[in-house]
Amino acid sequence: MKLRVFATKEEGGLYGASLVERVVEGISHPVLGLATGATVTPLYAALARLHRSGLDLSQCTTINLDEYIGLPPDHPQSYHHFMDEHLFRHVNIPPTQVHIPDGMAADLTAECSRYDAIVTRQRIDFQLLGIGVNGHIGFNEPSHILQSNTHVVTLRQETLLHNAKFFEDYAEVPKLAITMGVQAILQAKQIVLMAFGAEKAPVIARAFFGDVRTDVPASILQLHQDVTLILDAQSARELP
Ligand code: F6R
Repeated sequence: MKLRVFATKEEGGLYGASLVERVVEGISHPVLGLATGATVTPLYAALARLHRSGLDLSQCTTINLDEYIGLPPDHPQSYHHFMDEHLFRHVNIPPTQVHIPDGMAADLTAECSRYDAIVTRQRIDFQLLGIGVNGHIGFNEPSHILQSNTHVVTLRQETLLHNAKFFEDYAEVPKLAITMGVQAILQAKQIVLMAFGAEKAPVIARAFFGDVRTDVPASILQLHQDVTLILDAQSARELP
């Protein structure tokens, strides 16, 4: 595991974007696994700046980790909308090469199978991750098992409370989501996990310096050979 600690999340985002740039320039048809959330926005802002200075993203395919069930793509809190706002409208990735689970699918089992076919057809070159305060990656929540494939998940209360800040009312936070499973994440060639702020410090220490446990899903990344952690001083402060 590589560990990089930065003074600010903007610097962390800039470094993360430089890792994406390396992949985009080094591979002819790069596959990027993407995340949403407050943590990754500095990376997307830096990537948009790199694009404005000439970085061509037109050959990229993107595969997002997850989406809320029941929010249409144009809902301001849907992950479709998040990705458009923070990345896609600023860069030149063709919409036909963008994949995000459909949280409005009438048949969610079929949607999970459709998404699994996408993630198995093309191995992810670069997987970007945030981490939940409870250790989730994607929306693979703490449990007695970790599911391999794309699945429907009931979000845990700590996740709902964390995500409630993006909604006007707690009651509006969707309780269900579709998430990629841990298999596709672990099959990525390179994984970059970002975490900023003191609230992530305990889970970063448990996930990367404790045992591998299904009730701390991110700890499974200890089994991967190419993981980079991008932290700030606050999120790194409980590391041994
Ligand atoms: C979102 C996702 C989640 C977030 C995590 C951290 O696509 O996969 O695992 O990365 O909940 O969210 P923030 O960055 O808002 O703290």
